[in-house]
Amino acid sequence: MSAKTAKAEDDVAGLKKEVAKAAAELIENDSVVGLGSGSTANYFIEFLGERVRKEKLGIVGVPTSRASEEAAKRFGIMLCALDECERVDIAVDGADLIDAKLNLLKGYGGAHVREKIVAAAAKRFVVIADYTKRCRAISLPVPVEVLPFGLRLAEKKLAELGGKPALRMKEGRAFVSDNGNFILDADFGEIKSVKKMEEKINSIPGVIDNGLFPFEDFSQLEVYIAGKDGVERLRRR
Ligand code: 5RP
Repeated sequence: MSAKTAKAEDDVAGLKKEVAKAAAELIENDSVVGLGSGSTANYFIEFLGERVRKEKLGIVGVPTSRASEEAAKRFGIMLCALDECERVDIAVDGADLIDAKLNLLKGYGGAHVREKIVAAAAKRFVVIADYTKRCRAISLPVPVEVLPFGLRLAEKKLAELGGKPALRMKEGRAFVSDNGNFILDADFGEIKSVKKMEEKINSIPGVIDNGLFPFEDFSQLEVYIAGKDGVERLRRR
């Protein structure tokens, strides 16, 4: 890795920490907090754990993956499974892309199914990211979680929708999600209507859910973006 690339990565990591800290400061005592997955969400969990320790903040976390569960335990956050919580006050999570309308693309860490469930259950959904995640329109491949039994059919149907599906691999084997399923990363080029595409993909038999998060589905969506001039807060009017 060149010195220039290493510096750029350090800068992005610094921005992820900055936005994660800003989100950790939003959390109020007695809250039930959805804990997202990925490196930015991990920083959030770490800062939140710091507040729990220093301020004796009484909160309960709802993890969206095994990784976020382990991070929460490491940083001293009490946990609760989604089905055991009466409510989720706020969910905080990262994103892979955020378009101009605040549609999200998630799932590059393979946790989008539980992330979407927890975000949908939360009264307030706060997305945290560095400025490199912003885009005009979503045009990267969409992660699609598929029941292994239906893999071939899902590949065929995604191709019929105009996508180019590729089975996600890890260490020479098919990647398996926390839910025991495979992921097809389906390239559709630029997606014109995120909501319609999300629905079409999810209507394929055997598809569990995909990584498109249409902004319309989250009435209390707030996006925090860290850049050179600090943290910007975006909301739809
Ligand atoms: C995992 C996700 C993550 O939120 C997304 O991949 C962002 O990760 P990072 O904060 O590491 O850039 O959707 O399924």
